[in-house]
Amino acid sequence: MKKKVLLMGKSGSGKTSMRSIIFANYIAKDTRRLGATIDVEHSHVRFLGNLVLNLWDCGGQEAFMENYFVSQRENIFRNVEVLIYVFDIESRDEELKKDLRYYQTCLSAIYENSPSAKVFCLIHKMDLLQEDQRDKIFSERENEIINMSKPVKCTCFKTSIWDETLYGAWSSIVYKLIPNVQELEQSLKLFADLMECDEVLLFERATFLIISFCERASHRDVHRFEKVSNIIKGFKLSCSKLASQFTAMEVRNSNFAVFIDIFTPNTYIMVVMSEPNIPSAAVLLNIKNARKHFE
Ligand code: GTP
Repeated sequence: MKKKVLLMGKSGSGKTSMRSIIFANYIAKDTRRLGATIDVEHSHVRFLGNLVLNLWDCGGQEAFMENYFVSQRENIFRNVEVLIYVFDIESRDEELKKDLRYYQTCLSAIYENSPSAKVFCLIHKMDLLQEDQRDKIFSERENEIINMSKPVKCTCFKTSIWDETLYGAWSSIVYKLIPNVQELEQSLKLFADLMECDEVLLFERATFLIISFCERASHRDVHRFEKVSNIIKGFKLSCSKLASQFTAMEVRNSNFAVFIDIFTPNTYIMVVMSEPNIPSAAVLLNIKNARKHFE
C-alpha cells in the first residue's frame, strides 16, 4: 500500500533536514551540510509492514517551483495522499507573501488533481524565536494559513529540528495514513487493561514515530510522547555508532517502572507501570505473549 507524500516549501525552509532526521538517521547538526535539493528527490520508506510512504521531497528553488506548477503539474500533484508544506518562520514581508502565494498555487493544484489529499503546514525553525514569543507568532501564522486555505482544511504544527516538536508533528501526520488504526488502538487498550499499566505506546521501529498509544492515567506533560521518541531515537543512534544495536531498556524510579522492548517486526512497545517494584520478568512475559496478537 503506497502512499504519496509531497514535501513542499521554499528553498532552505528545512524539508530535506526533517526528512533526513526522521527517515535517514541524521542528527540535527548533520543537516547543516545538506545541499539544496535539485528537482524532486524520491524516497520509499517502508512503514509498518505493507504501508510504504512514497516521499517526494520537492526542491524549493523558484525555477523548480515554477516547473512543478506548469510543465510537471499532473505528475507532481496526481495521486497525492498528503501535502506537507513547510514555512520558514524567518520569512517576513515580501518573502512571506511570495511563500504564501506558492502555497496557494500548490493548494489549487492539489484541489484539481488530488481533491481528497490531506494538507498539513509546518511552521518550521521555531527555535529561532524567543520562547515566550513562539505561541503568539505561531497562532497568528496559523490563522492566516487556515483562512487562506479555505475551502481546503489544513492542520498546522510548529516544528523545529532541535527539539521533539518534529516528532510530534510527523507522528500525527503518519497516524492519519495508517490503515485500521482503530483496531490497533482497541488491541492496545485491551493489553493495557489486562496489564493494569498507566500507559502503553507503540513506536514504529525505524523512525520511532508514535503510531498508537493508550493512556489509563493522566499526566501533566502533554508532550511526553514526542520527547520519548526524540530521546530514544537519539540513544538508538548513539548505540549504532558504537556498533551495538538498541533492543530494550528498563528504567525505574520510586514511582514508576518503564519498559521499552522490540515488539513486532515493525514496532517497539513502551509500557509504563506505577508499580516501581514489579518484577521485570512478569512484564516482559506479558509483552512476549501479547506479540502474536499484534503481528
Ligand atoms: P531545498 O532543498 O533548497 O528546497 O531546501 P530545504 O527546504 O530542503 O532545506 P534544508 O533541509 O536543506 O535546510 C536548510 C538549512 O536549514 C540547513 O542548514 C538546516 O540545518 C537548517 N534548518 C532546518 N531545519 C531547521 C530548524 O528547525 N531550525 C533551524 N535553526 N535551522 C534549521
